[in-house]
Order: sequence, then structure tokens, then C-alpha cells
Amino acid sequence: MSRIVFLNGSFLPLEDAKVPFMDRGFLFGDGIYEGIGVLNGRLVDNEAHLERLERSLREVRIANPYSRAEWTRLEEELVRRNGMVEGFLYFQVTRGVSERDFFFPEDAQPTVAMFTQAKSIVHAPVAETGIAVVTVPDLRWERRDIKAISLLAQVLAKQTAKEAGAQEAWMVEDGFVTEGGSSSAFIITKAGAVVVRPLSHAILPGITRKSLLELSKEEGIVLEERRFTVEEAYDAAEAFLTSASNFILPVVTIDGRPVADGKPGPLTQKLRQLYLKMAGAPAMAAE
Ligand code: PDD
Repeated sequence: MSRIVFLNGSFLPLEDAKVPFMDRGFLFGDGIYEGIGVLNGRLVDNEAHLERLERSLREVRIANPYSRAEWTRLEEELVRRNGMVEGFLYFQVTRGVSERDFFFPEDAQPTVAMFTQAKSIVHAPVAETGIAVVTVPDLRWERRDIKAISLLAQVLAKQTAKEAGAQEAWMVEDGFVTEGGSSSAFIITKAGAVVVRPLSHAILPGITRKSLLELSKEEGIVLEERRFTVEEAYDAAEAFLTSASNFILPVVTIDGRPVADGKPGPLTQKLRQLYLKMAGAPAMAAE
């Protein structure tokens, strides 16, 4: 069975889903997106993702084509039609189709495209081994809090990481880590505090980050929402990243230097288990 995607009001096979040449997403990267984890056929933290979607659309002044209930119905229908159990659901909204001109078109309708990617998140091998990250300069624009589809700086950052044998890039500005190419960046100090950069225009307000901070608070874990330097990360007791497509992954080397003993840290593993439980991973209880 071919993958079913959603495009502008219709569910159809991927091969039949065509976006016009003059779409502003294609020409200008003029659009925003969301990505949501799926576990046991259920969307993880969907309300928070839809809230962020509404905010991104408002910030770039694209009219939201659907209500929150309609978005949810479309997302759930797409998961159902693809028989998806575990993975990632992606959608984007662009400013629509019109002759190339920088000014907003008067009459264009937003283009809405949504697809699923089946993926093993809970039992991903990297969750056991941890991943390598390398630091790169943060070359992005100044409104990183908007989940814009223009991701050229992240594409280049992540490719640099891949060519250095790493799986993620940590972007750095003025000596401080901003975030990962497609994830939020965390360290744990030797005193056991979880450190993450505070929300601002400098980073995306990660939904997994938000849930993790809530879970950590409930567990009485010490949280420090502050910037951290690359040197502090080299010297950390543990490091990890969060994202909707990976949940929580241990970071075991930074720029080729092992973080502590170079193995996933105990607090990171505990946080991952807490997050999996919250997300409704049933198998974890049996492990
Ligand atoms: N990326 N920071 C950046 C720059 C991101 O692109 C992402 C998500 C995050 C984590 O946010 P969340 O927890 O809401 O997924 C942080 C998605 C997964 C992507 O582009 O594939």
C-alpha cells in the first residue's frame, strides 16, 4: 500500500500529491511547520504542538486554515489511514501559490501538506548507545522561536555534523550553545542540575523540552534555565537532547570529547523513562 498523505483538503497517495510550481513555500521558504511524535498510534503532546502552530502562523501572518479540532481530526485520520503505530507526523502551511513577488499575495489560499514517517523511537539503538554531537556556529536568523520551513542553516549544520561522524550539531552563538540543528540541547552539571537555555527569540520553544521540564519539576530534579557555554558542556556530568522525533537521546561525545565516561548518564536515562511513560509507551513497564 502506498503512503497516504494529506494535501489541501484531500487524502491521497504520495505519488499523486503535487504542489504547484509557484508555491511560496518552494520559492521563498515562506511557511511554517510542525512535527509530532506518534506512539501506539497516538499523537504525543498534540495540544501543545497545535498551540505552537497557531503562534507560528500568527507571527508570520498566515491565516490558520483549520480550527484546533479540525487539525486534530486530520492528523488522526492520516495516522489511521497509514496504519501508523510509531513515528513522526509532519505538516506544513505555506502562504500559498501566486506569481513570484515578495509582497503577500492578496488572494492566495495557504497550502497545507501533511505526511507520516514510520520510525522506531522507543527501541531506537541510539537511545542505548547515545549520540555524538559537534558544535558549529549558529548561522540562523533572529526569530528562531518561529517554526519556519526555511531550514538552510540547519541543513548545513547537520551535514557538517554528519561529515564529522556525529548525529547532531549543537549551534553556538557568542560562546553559548543555542540548541541542536533539530533538537533542544541540555546538560546536567556535576551537582545534578538539569541546565537548558531559557526561551527567547534565540531558540525554538521545544514541546518535548516543555514536557521534560514539567516532568523534572514533579520529580524534584533541580532545573536551571540559563545559557551554557561549550566549555561547560565539555565538562558536564551528562548531556542529552530532546525532540518530537526522538523524545530524549543521550549525548555521549561533544566535538569528539567524551561527556564524563562517554556513556549515557543515569539521570538522562531516568528522564527518558519518565518521558516514555508520560507518552504512553506500554512495553517499558515490562522491561
Ligand atoms: N525539530 N529546536 C529546533 C531547531 C528544532 O527543529 C526542533 C524540532 C526542536 C525540538 O522541538 P520539539 O521538541 O517541539 O520537537 C528544537 C523537528 C523534530 C524537526 O525539524 O524534525
